[in-house]
Amino acid sequence: MSTPSGSERAALRALAAEVAREAAVLLMAGYRSRPSADEKGPRDLVTEFDRRSEALVGARLAAATPAIPVIGEELSGDDRHRRGLAWYVDPLDGTTNFVHGHPFFCVAIGLAADDVPLVGAVDAPALGVAWSGEVGVGASRNGEPCRVSATAELGDALVATGFPPVRDRAPADNFAAFVRVKRSARAVRRCGSAAIDLCMVADGTYDAYWERRLHAWDTIAASAIALGAGARVTALDGGPPDYHVGHLVVSNGRVHEALVAAVAEAAR
Ligand code: IPD
Ligand code: CA
Ligand code: CA
Repeated sequence: MSTPSGSERAALRALAAEVAREAAVLLMAGYRSRPSADEKGPRDLVTEFDRRSEALVGARLAAATPAIPVIGEELSGDDRHRRGLAWYVDPLDGTTNFVHGHPFFCVAIGLAADDVPLVGAVDAPALGVAWSGEVGVGASRNGEPCRVSATAELGDALVATGFPPVRDRAPADNFAAFVRVKRSARAVRRCGSAAIDLCMVADGTYDAYWERRLHAWDTIAASAIALGAGARVTALDGGPPDYHVGHLVVSNGRVHEALVAAVAEAAR
C-alpha cells in the first residue's frame, strides 16, 4: 500500500481504535486474576494474555489491511527498521502491572510509514481511558479532543519516566537521570507503561516524559497520538527520534530543552 490519503488515514485510525478496544476487552478477562507469567529475560514478563491479545490484533489487522505487515512484540518480536507502511503492536504494554493487578496497562496499535508514526490508538481498559491520534490532524482522549499542556518551566512540570528490564549499566539504567530530573521537576512518576506515559503527555496530564531502551511497539502508536496533540518527540539529545534505538524525550515543547539538558547532564 502506498502512503494513505487523508480519508484513508482517518479510517486506519478508527480501525486501530476499534481493534485496540477488542483486545482491551480480552485483557480485562485476566485483570486481577494473578495470571501466571513466563520470564523472557530478567524482569521481562509475558502471559497468555499478551499472546492472545496479539493473536487477536494480528488477525484483525491482517484481515482489514492485508498489504500492511504487522509487527508485534510477542509473535514477531523483530524490532528493526522498515521501509513502507507497518503496523506496530504492543498487545499488552505494562505486563508487570497486569500480572500484579495494577491498573496501568494498555493495548497500543500504531501505523508508521518508513518508521515515522502516522496514526495510533491506545486503550487502557482498567483506567477506562482510550486515546487515538493522527500526526498533523489531532488527538483525542475518550472521544474528546486533547492537547499537550502549556507548562513553561521544568520546575512546574509533572514528568514521567521508566526503567528498562535490564538495568546492568549506567546511563542506560536511567537511574542518574531519574535523580537529576527529580531534583528539578515538580515531581517524577514511574507508572510502568510507556504507551500510557506518552498518551498522558498528549492529554496534558504529564508535561514531559523520557525513557531509554524502548522498542518501536512501545512508542509508535502513542507517539502518533502525542504528535497529533502538539507534542515534541526527539532523541535524548534533542535530535530526530529513532524508535528502534528507543531513547526518547517527549514533551509539550516548552519544557523540552530543560529536560534534554537535565538528562544529558546526568549522563556525563
Ligand atoms: C514495558 C513498559 C514499561 C517500560 C519498559 C517496557 P512491556 O513494556 O512499557 O513502562 O519501562 O521498558 O519494556 O514489557 O510491559 O510491554
Ligand atoms: Ca511494551
Ligand atoms: Ca508488551
